[in-house]
Amino acid sequence: MSRKLAIGIIGTGGIARYHAEAYRKLDYVEVVAVADVVPGRARQFADSLGLRDAQAFDGHEELLKLDLDGVSICTPNVSHHRTSVDALRAGKNVLLEKPMSVTLDQAIDMAQASRQSGRMLTIGFQPRYDPNMKKLQEIVQSGRLGNVYYVETGGGRRRGMPGGTFIRKDLAGAGAMADIGCYSLDLALNTLGHPRPLTVSAFTSNRFGTNKLYHPEAERFEVEDFGVALVRFENDLVLQFKISWAMHMDTLGPTLFLGSDAGLKVTPAGTGPWSGVWDGSIGSMTMYYDDFGGHTETRVPLIEHKINLFDAKVHDFAEALRDGRPAPIPGHQILIQQAIIDGVLRSAEQRREVSVELPASLTE
Ligand SMILES: NC(=O)c1ccc[n+]([C@@H]2O[C@H](COP(=O)([O-])OP(=O)(O)OC[C@H]3O[C@@H](n4cnc5c(N)ncnc54)[C@H](O)[C@@H]3O)[C@@H](O)[C@H]2O)c1
Repeated sequence: MSRKLAIGIIGTGGIARYHAEAYRKLDYVEVVAVADVVPGRARQFADSLGLRDAQAFDGHEELLKLDLDGVSICTPNVSHHRTSVDALRAGKNVLLEKPMSVTLDQAIDMAQASRQSGRMLTIGFQPRYDPNMKKLQEIVQSGRLGNVYYVETGGGRRRGMPGGTFIRKDLAGAGAMADIGCYSLDLALNTLGHPRPLTVSAFTSNRFGTNKLYHPEAERFEVEDFGVALVRFENDLVLQFKISWAMHMDTLGPTLFLGSDAGLKVTPAGTGPWSGVWDGSIGSMTMYYDDFGGHTETRVPLIEHKINLFDAKVHDFAEALRDGRPAPIPGHQILIQQAIIDGVLRSAEQRREVSVELPASLTE
């Protein structure tokens, strides 16, 4: 290609640095502009990374007037909708940080903006780049488990509650469900091939977040710190999904896939206090089945790798731009999990099972 891909970064806080560092490793990409709503922060960010030629703006609108191939959106959840819709309408391709949005309506709007503009909207779920996640998907989709009828996933931290924008309902939408549950849902849905959800019955709780003993911002805590849901899908498949930011327990258990011919137990890698949730790699995979007239189990050999999953997702976006490929993790796929989270919150509030409201863009 004759010229470098011109990239902008919107939101220059913690995660933006990882985007900038990942782009820096590609010789065909240049970060030419950065923007943040806090005056001066974008300039400071660019200078601290040695991006002295990059233009810096105190807001995304001016940045979007530039001739850019793509933007990374690294703002808090509440700004994902506005910034990505504006970027798509301005003709930019978008790599958006997870979770996709605060509400289902926003996610629908974003997917429509992508479709109408013909620009890609890809959502940054880096665990998909773990080769063992791909292997898990291959095993389940190969039919080796037979007919998969039950999946249990999620994860829990004994204590790991963020604060700030993460605990405000209007800014984050949901708590643990949106923050870390989105990874578990993506693992399950992507492995299963994005089945169609029908109903949700859920319970959520905030016993830790609202207790000053456990959270310094207890008085401002408006979201759930724990949630559990039973999601029914087409074709007699159910998913039990549970997630916690805090609990008096060491684990909420492994991820399970039960099929008519075999079952698969999967655990996440990582042993730190904030581990035990699906924001990284696979730690083990064991298949259970009957053979030779008895119960048998096989430890699935894991692929050893040193892939930087975060870099891999940023590089895949850049490669898709360079090679004219479609969005690696398209927004319309992630709409399914937004619809489930929306159902979880409605069901928990109404204390009954509710239908999942599938966006028209998925049903058309
Ligand atoms: N994929 C991952 O592993 C991962 C890890 C951490 C955070 N995240 C996601 O990244 C996003 C950002 O998280 P963070 O930890 O970097 O937050 P942060 O608060 O450190 O940074 C966000 C920045 O965006 C700026 N901002 C807010 N609204 C803006 C707007 N409209 N236009 C431009 N700038 C704006 C803020 O001033 C701030 O500098 C969140 O959605 C979070 O869920 C993803």
